[in-house]
Order: sequence, then C-alpha cells, then structure tokens
Amino acid sequence: MRLNASQSVSIETDALIVGIHASPEGPRTAPGADGLDQAFDGRLAEILTTVGFAGKAEEIAKIPTLGALPAPVVIAVGLGAAPEGDYELETLRRAAGAAARTLAGTASAVLALPAATAEQAEAVATGGLLGAYGFSKYRTNGDKKAPVGELVVTSAAAGAEEALQRATTVAGVVGLVRDLVNTPPSDLWPGKFAEIAQEVGGEAGLSVDVLDDSELREHGYGGIVGVGQGSVNPPRLVRLGYRHPDATRTIAFVGKGITFDSGGLSLKPAASMDWMKSDMGGAAAVLGALLAVSRLGVAVNAVGYLCLAENMPSGSAQRPSDVLHTYSGKTVEVLDTDAEGRLVLVDGIARAAEDSPDLIVDVATLTGAQIVALGWRTAGVMSNDDALREEVVEIAGGLGESAWGMPLPEELRKGLDSPVADIANLQPERWGSMLAAGIFLREFVPDGIRWAHVDMAGPAFNKGEPHGYTPKGGTGAITRTLIGIAERYAGN
Ligand code: BES
Ligand code: MN
Ligand code: ZN
Repeated sequence: MRLNASQSVSIETDALIVGIHASPEGPRTAPGADGLDQAFDGRLAEILTTVGFAGKAEEIAKIPTLGALPAPVVIAVGLGAAPEGDYELETLRRAAGAAARTLAGTASAVLALPAATAEQAEAVATGGLLGAYGFSKYRTNGDKKAPVGELVVTSAAAGAEEALQRATTVAGVVGLVRDLVNTPPSDLWPGKFAEIAQEVGGEAGLSVDVLDDSELREHGYGGIVGVGQGSVNPPRLVRLGYRHPDATRTIAFVGKGITFDSGGLSLKPAASMDWMKSDMGGAAAVLGALLAVSRLGVAVNAVGYLCLAENMPSGSAQRPSDVLHTYSGKTVEVLDTDAEGRLVLVDGIARAAEDSPDLIVDVATLTGAQIVALGWRTAGVMSNDDALREEVVEIAGGLGESAWGMPLPEELRKGLDSPVADIANLQPERWGSMLAAGIFLREFVPDGIRWAHVDMAGPAFNKGEPHGYTPKGGTGAITRTLIGIAERYAGN
C-alpha cells in the first residue's frame, strides 16, 4: 500500500479506480476523479450510461482508456447518491473493496476515490486491502490468481500516511483471521492453532502462554476438557498478554475456538457440518485483535484468551448428562454436546476475570438462533451492562461491522435449571436460544465485572456471494470491533 499525494488521474498504473455518483442527470464523477471527464473528451457520463452503469453503490464498470490516460483501464465503482455532508466511511470501504475484488492478477492499481480527510483515506485503504484478499493456498490449478500486487491510495489529506499504515496493519490481521477460518480443520487443530498464536504473537511482542491438555485437567478447566476429550487432537487454552506503560485500563477478550464442531455425540446433521471449520472464528478474531493492538501500540493493557477444542464424537467423548466441573467452580450438566461453545467460553471468562479487567468481551459463533434472529450479517450483542452493550454496538457499527443489542430476559434463566448440577447447558425449548446462551454465560461472570458477549454465528463466515470488501468464506468479522474497543479504552 502506497500513498500518492497528487490526486491526478494521469498516474501510471495498471488500473485506475474512480468513484461515480448516481444523480438524476446521470452518473457523475466523485472527488478524487477530477479530470477524468476531460480525459474522455467530456463523454464519461455517456460512456458509463451506454454500458448501463448508473453509479449505484458497489456497481462496477471497466472502461478501456485506449490511450486517453496512462492507465489502460478505468474501474468505475458506484458510490450511490452524493452525500449532503460527509461521506459515510462504510460507503468508501465497500466501494474500494468491491473494486479491489476485480483486481486479482493485476500488478498495481490506484484507488482515486474520495479521500479528503485522513479518516476517509483510511476507509478507502481498509476497504481496498480487505477486498483484495484471496485464499488460494489449496488450489493447484489456474484459478490461483495472485491478489493485486500493489494498491496506491491518492489523498492530499494531512495524516494520510499514518492512516494508510493503520489500514495496512488492521487489514493484515483481518487477513490472518480469514486465513485461519478458511483453513480446513485437518490443518488447524487446537495444538496447531496454539503454535500459530505462539509464533505470530511472539513476533508481535505479546506474551503467549499455552495450557495443554494435562495442564487444563490439572487446573480444573472442566469445560474445555469436556468438549475436547472426544478428539484425538487435545484442547488448549492460550493466553495472550499485552501491556502499555501509559495504560490506565485492562481489557480482556475471550474467543470461542472450536476448530471443528461436529456436534459431538449430539451429532449435527451433515448439511450443518461442512462449514463448522469456522467455529473458531471468535478465537481467531481475538488473536487478530491482540496482534493489531500490539502493532499499533494502543495505550491499554489487553489480554486475550483462545478457548481451543475440537468437538468430536468418540468413545472418549463427553456424554449428554455428563456433569462438568468448570474453572469457575460451578458445575454444568451437559444436556446437548452441540451446545459446546458456552462450555469452553465459561472457562475462558472465569480465567479472564482473574486478570481483574475493566471489561470482558467474549466473541463466539455461538448459536444458529443468532442467524434466525438477525440474519447472516448482523451480530447479536448481549451484556450485563446496558451502556457497555450500546458502546459495543456503536463501535461495531462505526466500523461497518453490523451488530445489534439483544436482551438477557430474566425469565429464561429458569429454563437452564438442572436437576443435578448448578446449571444445564441447554434450555428445553429452542425459542430465544441466542439469549439463553447469553444468560448461561452471564452466570460465570463474577459480580462487578462488566461483560459483553458477541454472537457472530452468521457474520463470521460468508456462505453467499462476495460483497463490498467481504469475500466468500471467512470474513474476519468483529476483529476490527475488538480493536476499536481497545482504542476506546486506551489512555485515560
Ligand atoms: N457452532 C454452533 C453454532 C453455529 C450454527 C455457528 C450455525 C455458525 C452457524 C454451536 O456450537 C451450536 O451447535 N449451537 C447450537 C446450540 C443448541 C444445541 C442449543 C445451535 O445453535 O443449534
Ligand atoms: Mn455446537
Ligand atoms: Zn459450535
């Protein structure tokens, strides 16, 4: 990623990306593309209209320049109607991402999109870098097109250079999160995930401590052990630590890291299983966020817990009706081994509480009910503190990571009563089960600790077509929100 401070369209590149607004009079160039119309002899709108391009958000048209500009092709990307005031940053991210998705196999491209402020330049850069993502490690055929070689952002804004650096750091960790989610479970089991965390965490200057299977048993992490015991790939708990000398607050992130969720003995039907490699998306997001917090030097103390296990059926698997002794000291009756995420999370949450954090945020692909309630793209946020819940929703929304506040209705607690243990891991009815999962988790948060829970079962993995800067497969969802939370709690 490079910055070009002169916002001229006559820059040498393989592809010039420009923003186009829709208007009642037809398509109009957005700031950043000044001079483009003249290069086409004042006929740009006519050309775009001829190929059916109106300037709707994320619409794409490729226009050959035939020598009119140094770039052989102009990629027009729609920005919708021109805004009355400032640009929505997400409009810029998505436009840059949609354009960047068309660039595979291109050596270089220039994003000549609106970037009058450092914030806008960062949005363009972030969207462009995230859109340029590709995952071709497992392809041996001609589909293995290299992602775009170099992206250049044009902006004359003060602070644009730092903005681009930030964008590069953030997009880099989101790319790692996506890679981890996309990696097949044959190549990403708990021990391997922990090794990767150790390696990349160490490089980024994090402290990394890993508890293996026998240490987890020894220290009483019954939830993680119970879920992991059916697999030949034993579980791990990874603690990532980051400290800043100017920090006044400590934040803790806890991620669900089920490297594959078969459901265990409460086996999932085949159709719901093929994408359960994504069930470690929460842990990946926590790893990515801690890496970014360290690389950006955010003035906060942060800890991250990756609760890693593979949920498999076998002769050693936990059984429905087993009772687990969790790290908190509370016992849980496992009524359904497919409600495993909450079992590993409560051990992570109870451990995180020992760091005396100012807040704990857990992130998990926790329930199908989240998708029923909010769809594929909107995460559900629950909390024991209304202000914290709204803060998380607001931070996520500002970064284009759609999230919505959800209640924790008291009456649902009764459904988790167990005849033998302190609590059951499942309520007997399916209605409201995203909220019941939240209620279950809340039981394990010690009094006085502010806690929020983000259920991103839908947003973590895109089963549909790519859109904006979001590819098919692993999305890296909520990673940027966690970074945003860390920045919000930085300094004093
Ligand atoms: N990993 C799943 C939740 C999930 C579903 C994530 C779909 C992504 C997409 C979780 O472990 C699970 O199986 N949840 C069950 C809970 C139920 C047994 C209470 C569910 O939601 O069906
Ligand atoms: Mn499950
Ligand atoms: Zn799961």
